[in-house]
Amino acid sequence: MNITTQTPVGASRLQHLIEISDLTLSEIDALIATAEDIVAHPTKYADACHGKILAALFFEPSTRTRLSFEAAMLSLGGSVIGFADAGSSSSSKGESVADTIRMVSAYADIAVMRHPKEGAPLVAGMHSDIPVINAGDGGHNHPTQTLTDLYTIKLERGRLDNLHVGLCGDLKFGRTVHSLLAALSRYAGNSFALISPEELRIPEYLYAKVLGGVNYTETTDLMSVIAELDMLYMTRVQRERFFNEADYIRLRDSYILTAEKMQSAHGEMVVMHPLPRVNEIATEVDSDPRAAYFRQAKNGKYIRMALILKLLGV
Ligand code: CP
Repeated sequence: MNITTQTPVGASRLQHLIEISDLTLSEIDALIATAEDIVAHPTKYADACHGKILAALFFEPSTRTRLSFEAAMLSLGGSVIGFADAGSSSSSKGESVADTIRMVSAYADIAVMRHPKEGAPLVAGMHSDIPVINAGDGGHNHPTQTLTDLYTIKLERGRLDNLHVGLCGDLKFGRTVHSLLAALSRYAGNSFALISPEELRIPEYLYAKVLGGVNYTETTDLMSVIAELDMLYMTRVQRERFFNEADYIRLRDSYILTAEKMQSAHGEMVVMHPLPRVNEIATEVDSDPRAAYFRQAKNGKYIRMALILKLLGV
């Protein structure tokens, strides 16, 4: 859903990033090109956001997304305000998302919001005078993780099309998977192996919304498909989204990627993971050159710098 706001002719356009389809493929290409330029010429961008303020509104825990957004804004010469947990904001007193973003609009130039409720950043965007970026809403979407993932795939594999991609683990609650699938399915020739326990298959709505006309298979067996994959995207079983602990314990170790299993993959297969990792990739895999997940997390800062520049119109 594109919630770019309607503005009178001549007025500047206020753009939010709520889901990855808010960006065209050429806009994604341009963001990747900007990220590459930032890496090549960091000093060129050092004052680009001087005098601008980013509000980091994290109602749910985060390491990578929050800190990479903050590092991104600081590296652009801007400043950061915000909170890292809902308990230290007035939402703990009952303030609504709409009222919160109205206030933040008075103090900042751009807002990044993570929230446990699906759709909270969408609501924020509807009541905001500044661009709102969805930094993860419940088990729904995580579009800036997807920008990070696309940038990483481009760096690691040299292209975003004609790839056979394995998505493995918690495909039901894993918001990064939902956004990545929505993005990669728009590039020509991509096909997917959806690898999960029966209970953690992708949500029903995504079959119609994203997978119509797309070449995909579903399996519970990672090893039956690993040899065919160009990229394997491992995910954590999302404990915080389960209704009962017993189900989580039963499913949490459904897939554990080991060095032995990596021997069945081809030499160019890239392993990605949005992180945090729990037990689904053995630490022995970290030294395999195909393990890209720490490079992936680092890339997040540069693509988020590119996104801030775009949404601020700098
Ligand atoms: N990938 C990701 O969203 O990590 P954090 O939860 O640490 O932000």
